[in-house]
Amino acid sequence: MEDLSPRPGDLEPIETASRDEIAALQLERMRWSLRHAYENAPFYRQRFDEAGVHPDDLKTLADLAKFPFTTKADLRDHYPFGMFAVPREKIVRLHASSGTTGKPTVVGYTENDISMWAEMVARSIRASGGRRGDAVHVAYGYGLFTGGLGAHYGAERLGCTVIPVSGGMTERQVMLIEDFKPRVIMVTPSYMLSILDEFRRQGKDPRACSLAVGIFGAEPWTNAMRGEIEQAFDMHAVDIYGLSEVMGPGVANECVETKDGLHIWEDHFYPEIIDPETGEPVPDGEMGELVFTTLTKEGLPIVRYRTRDLTRLLPGTARSMRRMDKITGRSDDMIILRGVNVFPTQVEEQILKCAGLAPHFQIELNRQGRMDTMTVHLEALDHAASEDARKASAAELAHHIKSVIGVTAKINVGEPGSAPRSEGKAKRVVDNRPKG
Ligand code: DLL
Repeated sequence: MEDLSPRPGDLEPIETASRDEIAALQLERMRWSLRHAYENAPFYRQRFDEAGVHPDDLKTLADLAKFPFTTKADLRDHYPFGMFAVPREKIVRLHASSGTTGKPTVVGYTENDISMWAEMVARSIRASGGRRGDAVHVAYGYGLFTGGLGAHYGAERLGCTVIPVSGGMTERQVMLIEDFKPRVIMVTPSYMLSILDEFRRQGKDPRACSLAVGIFGAEPWTNAMRGEIEQAFDMHAVDIYGLSEVMGPGVANECVETKDGLHIWEDHFYPEIIDPETGEPVPDGEMGELVFTTLTKEGLPIVRYRTRDLTRLLPGTARSMRRMDKITGRSDDMIILRGVNVFPTQVEEQILKCAGLAPHFQIELNRQGRMDTMTVHLEALDHAASEDARKASAAELAHHIKSVIGVTAKINVGEPGSAPRSEGKAKRVVDNRPKG
């Protein structure tokens, strides 16, 4: 694979600034953001007053811990526009994320917010090894989801040729990659696997295609999956993170030259890790729930938003800004099976160790009597795999899951093509256990 390390002059000064410079900028911007939220969003004024804090109480960055958290429920309770800090007329774009139940959460952007977002996605594409003049195939969904339009504006801002394909119609995705020859693709990792299948179904060699960089996010994926995709396409696979409540894609991104976790664009998003039980901040390096405060957003400033994503903060490497580890999972997706905590990413790692299995999978949970059971549905890689070969793969996976994760799982290895496919975010867990 090509060496895509940045060349002299590629980076913005802030990307290599000293920690002191970064902290000084953060403090100045955080003061502005808290004041803006307090003065213009009645929700924050009420919350801060109830907690007995005022924006003037922020003397150091650590003082942020005095301020109350914001949750997804707060956004739902103020549906649709109740948390905006500017009049609706100043909002030039709305997005929404569909919850599993009830109303979506709605987010709004001013013209400046859209511009900052495009800047951050442009920075993310550049960190991934994309450059001005590249053709960028965007297969994140366009619409209320932030993936498609977020990627689109960022690629345009960098000066790329954007191919706004959106998700779905997999045959056509392959045709457009073959014909338009993009150097960069932006898509969920699980949908990239569907695109890979389609290449193979059409008898085309994915390693021979034009793609040199994939920017994958919107769902958890593992380093094992990175290896699988890089090998299959002979391309760099880089992680992009974001969430609509904070902005959308481009809150943090890996650097292609290190691939050692995601640099958080700390000049616009201030991260904390908290203990999810107590809400207390934990030191860098310790695992916990990721919390974000926006530093420059106008339309929907967000103070201490609890993401539910589990990770840890690490010092900067390729850039001065801190990194977050690849996300283990969301606390909402954690499966508690007979007392053992299991994340779908842990199952993914074990699947990728088994040579005979394709990487598509879904976990089904059921209750039999008082016992919870976990079944992993996946498929054989090879059409010619015999019944015995499939049984052997199932036994191999069950063994890895038992010995590494510590739970007993049933494994159902179907024919190639039988496991559910994703066109966007994969649904990894189907929970059929009675609620409550
Ligand atoms: O998924 C924004 C996005 C689009 C990010 C495209 C990257 C690429 P939401 O739909 O609001 O926004 O979902 C946000 O998705 O809290 C995480 O749980 C998960 N997520 C996003 N990126 C990653 C990632 C977009 N790189 C939620 N790794 C977040 C793991 C991710 N999980």
